[in-house]
Amino acid sequence: MIELDNVSYSYGGGELFSGVKLDLAPGSFQFLTGPSGAGKTTLLKLCYGALTATGGQVRMFGADAASMTRDQVALTRRRIGVVHQDCEFLDHLPLAENVSLPLTVSGRGGEADEYLPELLAWVGLSGQSSQLPPQLSGGERQRAALARAVITSPEVIIADEPTGNIDWEMSQRLLHLLIELNRMGKAVLVATHDMNLIRAAGAQTQARVLRLKGGQLLQAGADL
Ligand SMILES: Nc1ncnc2c1ncn2[C@@H]1O[C@H](COP(=O)(O)OP(=O)(O)O)[C@@H](O)[C@H]1O
Ligand SMILES: [Mg+2]
Repeated sequence: MIELDNVSYSYGGGELFSGVKLDLAPGSFQFLTGPSGAGKTTLLKLCYGALTATGGQVRMFGADAASMTRDQVALTRRRIGVVHQDCEFLDHLPLAENVSLPLTVSGRGGEADEYLPELLAWVGLSGQSSQLPPQLSGGERQRAALARAVITSPEVIIADEPTGNIDWEMSQRLLHLLIELNRMGKAVLVATHDMNLIRAAGAQTQARVLRLKGGQLLQAGADL
């Protein structure tokens, strides 16, 4: 669904990485690891069209990302659910409205009633739907961010350090939700430096582990 072919990226100085090959195929589950500053977040942004590759080709659902118009990129982005590390919410809106926002802004607000109750139950936040984001714990916010990312039924889920600020039990819950989405056939890509999370996932699902280091993306061996 999303393919990176010989991709490189530079913010203007030297190349951050080059020769990157990556395929987010239906039903695939992949982790992206690597030291801080290696370019994980940058690589994810290339996958969801927030940045344009400076070399090579990114294909999003068959189309060359570099030749897409802004409108085409915006439409394509709706097929991708993104969970950011610092999950930003509109603090004056209740959780339910924050989670339905992607539907509202794409003119599908009417569908929220249909999906929202089930989705909030799935992430274990049914009781918190009228609370304001600042009233939620870190783990609750992460799960709300996941609910918001998947409310439009995206085919691809991209998560950037989704368990960065939460305790182990909460990260296990989040991992379980991601595995469930993957079992529904969605392509999942998770950037994380949490090796315990990767090991826990390995016991539950077939996940590939990729490591970005020194400007190259390599498949990680069994040395985790
Ligand atoms: N907008 C930007 N402009 C210039 N340099 C950036 C920008 N964003 C990130 N960088 C730099 O690119 C490198 C990779 O960053 P990032 O992709 O966030 O890495 P990671 O997620 O692996 O920690 C870092 O050195 C960072 O400082
Ligand atoms: Mg990062």
